[in-house]
Amino acid sequence: MTRATLIRLVAAMLALTAVISVVMLQFDWNGVAGATEADDIDLLTDVMIVLSSFVYSIVLVMLAYSIWRYRAKPGDESDGEPIHGNTKLEIAWTLIPTVIVLFAAGYSWFILDKIEAREADRLEVDVTAQQFAWSFEYPEQGVTSTELHVPVDRQAEFNLDAIDVIHSFWVPEWRVKKDAVPGQPTSLVATPDREGSYQLICTELCGVGHATMRAPVVVESQEEFDEWIADQDGDAAGGGGAGGEGGEEDAVAAQGQQIFDEQGCNGCHTLAEAGATQTIGPSLDEVLPRLSPDEIETAIVDPDAELSPGFNEGIMPDNFGDALSPEELDTLVRYLSENAEGGQ
Ligand code: CUA
Repeated sequence: MTRATLIRLVAAMLALTAVISVVMLQFDWNGVAGATEADDIDLLTDVMIVLSSFVYSIVLVMLAYSIWRYRAKPGDESDGEPIHGNTKLEIAWTLIPTVIVLFAAGYSWFILDKIEAREADRLEVDVTAQQFAWSFEYPEQGVTSTELHVPVDRQAEFNLDAIDVIHSFWVPEWRVKKDAVPGQPTSLVATPDREGSYQLICTELCGVGHATMRAPVVVESQEEFDEWIADQDGDAAGGGGAGGEGGEEDAVAAQGQQIFDEQGCNGCHTLAEAGATQTIGPSLDEVLPRLSPDEIETAIVDPDAELSPGFNEGIMPDNFGDALSPEELDTLVRYLSENAEGGQ
């Protein structure tokens, strides 16, 4: 290969890299960006697209050149000269990928180090994942919720825990993602910089209800966030401190509904009273009217003891007897049996 040919080939590779890069960068691969981390990660994606286009161009140009240059000529039936080794070529094809991979590793490390840095004034949120629901506890504010609320432009640290199998925490607009692993605490940080409603999605196949394991995410101003926190406190105080006529029934209804949501019952069952509409498990609107309180309790702590027709063993977690305190279990059973009477 002459020097002139080599220069032409390299020029063709660079030109093709430019064309492929420009085309590929037209696509909005990652969607709307809603956190400061997203900007760094999107830039990293773009750099990787350009690097990949370069590698792809080298392969395409050399392939096209070889097909044309070494094609069989009319009348020539030979296999061509046997050759062995080409030191310059081997050094080049070792060195170039090494430089590209080292650059990609170094740059990714730099970005990861930057977006994982914890800020002193961050908001702490303890996240619990279980089949097939999320719950959120704000330890500093003393609030628990099934909706994730975070203030805009403030770093939030999510301390992840799972109580059954591995789940994964992902809000696509924030880009960052991490597994929640039973018995092994993990955490990730995000700094949402765009107000609005989003969805937290479980991205680890965790069972039959995996696809429904989502939770609403609200990014709002610090004032709106403070108001929301105050409202959560109000609910808790109202439920616990109720007295007078009908007060206890109201408390059971409120607490029962809260347990129903927090334990993720709404992730699998339909119950009109609770606004639950899932169909992974039997519809409680249909099943409950047939059950006594004792039978309801058995169905919660030992779900495989008696199965509804068309539903299989082992789908519903059998650890609610451990997850719920005796008082919580009692409240949940009373809540469900009251609904059973109401539902008839
Ligand atoms: Cu939890 Cu998928």
